[in-house]
Amino acid sequence: MKSMLITGGAGFIGSNFIHYVLGIDRGVRVVNLDALTYAACPENLGDLPDPGRHVFVHGDVCDQDLVLGLLLEYEIDTVVHFAAESHVDRSIHGPAPFVRTNILGTFSLLEAARTAWFEKGIGGGERTRFHHVSTDEVYGSLGPDDPAFVETTPYAPSSPYAASKASSDHLVRAYAHTYKLPAVITNCSNNYGPRQFPEKLIPLVILNAQEGRPLPVYGDGQQVRDWLYVEDHCEALWTVLDRGVPGETYNIGGGNQVANLTLIREICNLLDGVQPDGSGRPHSSLITFVADRPGHDRRYAMEINKIRSELGWKPRHTLADGLRKTVQWYLDHPGWVSAVRSRGDYKEWIAKNYASRKAATP
Ligand code: NAD
Ligand code: DAU
Repeated sequence: MKSMLITGGAGFIGSNFIHYVLGIDRGVRVVNLDALTYAACPENLGDLPDPGRHVFVHGDVCDQDLVLGLLLEYEIDTVVHFAAESHVDRSIHGPAPFVRTNILGTFSLLEAARTAWFEKGIGGGERTRFHHVSTDEVYGSLGPDDPAFVETTPYAPSSPYAASKASSDHLVRAYAHTYKLPAVITNCSNNYGPRQFPEKLIPLVILNAQEGRPLPVYGDGQQVRDWLYVEDHCEALWTVLDRGVPGETYNIGGGNQVANLTLIREICNLLDGVQPDGSGRPHSSLITFVADRPGHDRRYAMEINKIRSELGWKPRHTLADGLRKTVQWYLDHPGWVSAVRSRGDYKEWIAKNYASRKAATP
């Protein structure tokens, strides 16, 4: 049996990945280490396909003794590292937890893996992998006509979040190079889909629109992101685990590059169709321009030739398909929505980020 340690598996992508893995491979056991920060939703793990093969451990990736203990106890041969502080806006308000979890947490995992696999003789076979899940934000911001990011694009992170992820990538690469740790890195663009915490743009817009609240657009709304449906990301991760080459990096992207304002209008149109506003007004009338994010990256775009040609992966969902499924998921899960939004730290964040944000003219 393949024995996997998944970190951050109560969060958005990690929980989707656990659903995916347990659904497609009956020979996998998953140990899920998560600190259950504000971003975690234990509800995400309530309906797993085969819960008997999932072990939840409440703990911190920075606790190296705990991590080493788990690697040894469960004879882990595959680490998939999602755990991170992941929200750019929060990293601007308070970068310290980003440095701790994203940099020191990754260091702690790398050290534990090195000890378990090279000194204690657990794992170490041909299939042993340390898979580090990273972001396109490490490459910085593109101008309107710049070519998309490739795996060799120099790192130029802008936000404290992106800088902390870039640092963690450098550490992983150093361990692969120096100690021959069988590590791979994937850098992915913006994900969306079921179970995303509603402080991120797409769920925030769906839920605010449903409730007739303002839809906050930072700056002029012309920032471009490359949106990827989360299930496609899970499939890409599985492909890289299966066929990726240790020491390599793979870019993952959705091929769906749209400006934020266009994306928000598209969500509004979808909602107009499935849940029209009682007053007959289009949901887009709720769009409100607000002060921009400091240091806001203008454009991201991912070149995915490497993963497509070497490993045979490409995204399956168009943006229209993915958005339709996502909107429907949020409409179908009011219990999940009220559970995650009823927590004090979520309410505090919404007040902190938006209450004093000045209106802006695009
Ligand atoms: P998320 O914020 O939804 O979930 C993060 C999870 O990590 C939470 O469950 C949280 O409790 C856990 N966690 C945080 N600190 C921890 C710690 N010290 N110890 C153990 N667990 C801890 O994040 P996400 O959006 O699912 O992103 C997952 C990973 O993918 C991150 O590494 C992120 O940088 C990367 N990524 C995200 C996107 C995206 O669009 N969401 C895109 C590219 C890459
Ligand atoms: O690019 C990958 C990254 O995507 C991941 O590494 C991060 O973990 C993930 O959070 C995401 O970062 P973004 O900053 O791009 O995501 P967010 O949903 O916060 O914002 C998307 C875009 O929408 C961004 O240009 C900022 C803008 N925005 C966001 C919010 C929350 C708004 O205009 N209004 C808002 O209220």
